[in-house]
Amino acid sequence: MKTAGLEGVVAAISEISLVDGNKGHLVYRGHWAKDLAISYSFEEVAYLLWYGSLPNKTELHEFGEILKANRRLPDYIKTIIDNLPEKMELMSVLRTVVSAMGTEEYQWPSTTEQALSLTAVLPTVISYRYRRINGLSPIEPSDNLNHVANFLYMLKEEQPSQSHVKALSAYLILTMEHGMNASTFTARVIASTQSDLASAISGAIGAMKGPLHGGAPSGVIELLDEIGSKENAEDVLRRKLKGGERLMGFGHRVYKTQDPRAEALRTITAEFSEDDPWFSLANEVEDLAIELLNEYKPGRKLYTNVEFYAAAILKAIDLPTELFTSAFTSSRIIGWIANVLEQNENNRIIRPASEYSGPMPE
Ligand code: SDX
Repeated sequence: MKTAGLEGVVAAISEISLVDGNKGHLVYRGHWAKDLAISYSFEEVAYLLWYGSLPNKTELHEFGEILKANRRLPDYIKTIIDNLPEKMELMSVLRTVVSAMGTEEYQWPSTTEQALSLTAVLPTVISYRYRRINGLSPIEPSDNLNHVANFLYMLKEEQPSQSHVKALSAYLILTMEHGMNASTFTARVIASTQSDLASAISGAIGAMKGPLHGGAPSGVIELLDEIGSKENAEDVLRRKLKGGERLMGFGHRVYKTQDPRAEALRTITAEFSEDDPWFSLANEVEDLAIELLNEYKPGRKLYTNVEFYAAAILKAIDLPTELFTSAFTSSRIIGWIANVLEQNENNRIIRPASEYSGPMPE
């Protein structure tokens, strides 16, 4: 029997974000997420989500400086990363490293310091691991670049273009927080037992890793690569739908209309895609997929979700496909931490009921 997956169950009263699935609205602490993505930095929106208001100049400077001070990897973490099996995928490496940073050796005076440190170090772990397994020497973090520019710099060892920084920043801001999604719920459950932040983030990374959640953007790339050209699109999509396959980048538990993040990212990718054949194929596939989803799944209201255009943005800035879900993780850690901080303020252990369907003893 198909479980309801807690659909529609309210697990928390939260001031952090509103995800309105009927209107297609996403609000962060009273601000439209789309506006924040266009006009503010990663640091400003992270501060807003954690503390409830945008930082003033002094607060922003201090916040940014603490992140910069925590970007470097301790030697023992580099040793762990270098000794993990080469075939271990990046999300498993992230989960392992965050868990290892939750040990006694890595003492933090408070959850906030641990939050800043884990946030700061994720892009360094991603770039360090990616470059090492590709035979490239790791690039030390820059102290002169903001969080997003430094992420791109450490990956490519060159000053990133402003358009790439802007596109990645908008994507990371739009994916920072999204109500009670599976990985955020995981973080809140672990926090509700009064466990430590590293445990909550490690668990959330495990949830994010799944293809139905954070693993979808690479699935979008695989779908478009399989289709290859406009002429093939209908045959490939029909074959998948007839076979009961999920089209990655479509459908959503909450949005029964366009995912507002997909709309915002579509606008940003338009700047890159004037004459790029991949983007015009993506636009063709998107329209046809929605038409066919309605034909095969009438009444299910399946639209494009954030991951379809996440794939487009990340491809536009030449981010390697194997980094897609970990890039998503480097932004959603902000939402996970905001929810852990809120859970800690007014906590009761999260323990839902279950219905017994097994036999009773004689
Ligand atoms: C994210 O929760 C969040 O907020 C998540 C997220 C966030 O920011 O944290 O927004 C990020 O995870 C976005 C979703 C990324 N995942 C994908 O793109 C994978 C493909 N999409 C799906 O598998 C699906 O749409 C989900 C998982 C996103 C939502 O699944 P639900 O709400 O549990 O819906 P369901 O599995 O019950 O499906 C309902 C029906 C089914 O048909 P029937 O069995 O009833 O005939 O719709 C069909 C499904 O087969 N369906 C799809 C489909 N999505 C749903 N059919 C084909 N392709 C799809 N993409």
